Amino acid sequence: KIESHLRPQTLKEYIGQEKAKETLKVYITAAKQREEPLDHLLFYGPPGLGKTTLAGIIANEMGVNIKITSGPAIEKPGEMAAILNNLQENDILFVDEIHRLNRQVEEVLYPAMEDYAIDIMIGKGATARSIRLDLPKFTLVGATTRVGMLTAPLRDRFGVVHRMEYYTVEELEDIVIRSAKVLDVTIDATGAHALARRSRGTPRLVNRLLKRVRDFAQVKYDGHIDEEVANYALDLLEVDKEGLDQIDRELLEVLIFKFQGGPVGLETLAAALSEDSTTIEDVYEPYLLKNGFISRTPRGRVVLEKAYVHLGIPHKNDEK
Ligand code: ADE
Repeated sequence: KIESHLRPQTLKEYIGQEKAKETLKVYITAAKQREEPLDHLLFYGPPGLGKTTLAGIIANEMGVNIKITSGPAIEKPGEMAAILNNLQENDILFVDEIHRLNRQVEEVLYPAMEDYAIDIMIGKGATARSIRLDLPKFTLVGATTRVGMLTAPLRDRFGVVHRMEYYTVEELEDIVIRSAKVLDVTIDATGAHALARRSRGTPRLVNRLLKRVRDFAQVKYDGHIDEEVANYALDLLEVDKEGLDQIDRELLEVLIFKFQGGPVGLETLAAALSEDSTTIEDVYEPYLLKNGFISRTPRGRVVLEKAYVHLGIPHKNDEK
C-alpha cells in the first residue's frame, strides 16, 4: 500500500494519461487471463505526473503486492538479489529513479527480468563457478525522469515503455475536485479552474496547492474555495497565472539579464542559479520547454518571446 489517500486506487478513478490507461487495461486483462505476471513496464517523464500512483494501481488491479524502492537505495547486488528473492509470484517491484542504479546492481536485473533467475558466483579463481537461482515470476515497473540515462540493455528488457504526459487544465480540474471531496472541503468550478491553471500540468502540484488554499479558505474566508480565495492564496504563494513559481521566473530572468537571452550552457545556467543541473533539467525545464518559454539549441538554452511578454520585460522586438 502506498501512502496518501489522495492517490486513486483503480484505473477507473485515475484521471488523465488516457493512452496509458487504455493500453494498460488490455495488458492487465490479458495477463490475468493467462495467470501470468505483467510484462516489465517503464514509465518516464517529469516528476509529479503519477508514475508511482500508476504502479500502485496496476498492483491493485492485478491483485498482487507491490514492493517500492529506488535506484539510489539499492547499493549492492546482494541487496537487489534479496529483494527479488523475497517477492511472491506475480508481485510488482517498483524501482523509482531507476536510471540511478549502479552498474553491478543493474546487472542482477538482466537475468532476473529475462529468465526470472539470478546468477550467483561461488568460489574464487580457477574453481569459481556460477549457480543459477530461480526467482518467483515478477513484474518490474521502472520510473525515471531521464530515459536517456538508462543503459540500452536495461531499456531493451522492458516490454512496455510509456512516456507520461502533462495533464490538461480540464484533467487537473477533475483531479482537484476529486481531491477536495477526499479532503472534505468544498470547491466550486471557478476555484478548481484557478488551481488547475496554475499547477503546471502536474497533479502532485495541484494537490499540494489545494491543501495550501484550503488553509487560507479556512482561516481567512468561510472555508469554501472559489476563484477569489484561490487567487488570493496563489498570489501569496507566488505561483503566477502560467503556473510558474519563483524559481521558474528566476531562471527566465537570469537567462534574459545575465546571458542576454542565451544561448547558455546548462552548467553555466545552473551555476548562476546555484541549482543542481539535473534538477534544472528534470524539474524546471520540461514545463518551460513544453510551454514555449525557452528552447534548447545545440549551443545551449535560449529564452523565447513568450517569456519576455509574460514577465513584462521589453526587448529588442519591441523597439521597431
Ligand atoms: N491524484 C493524483 N493524481 C491523480 C490522477 N491522475 N487521477 C486522479 N487523482 C489523482
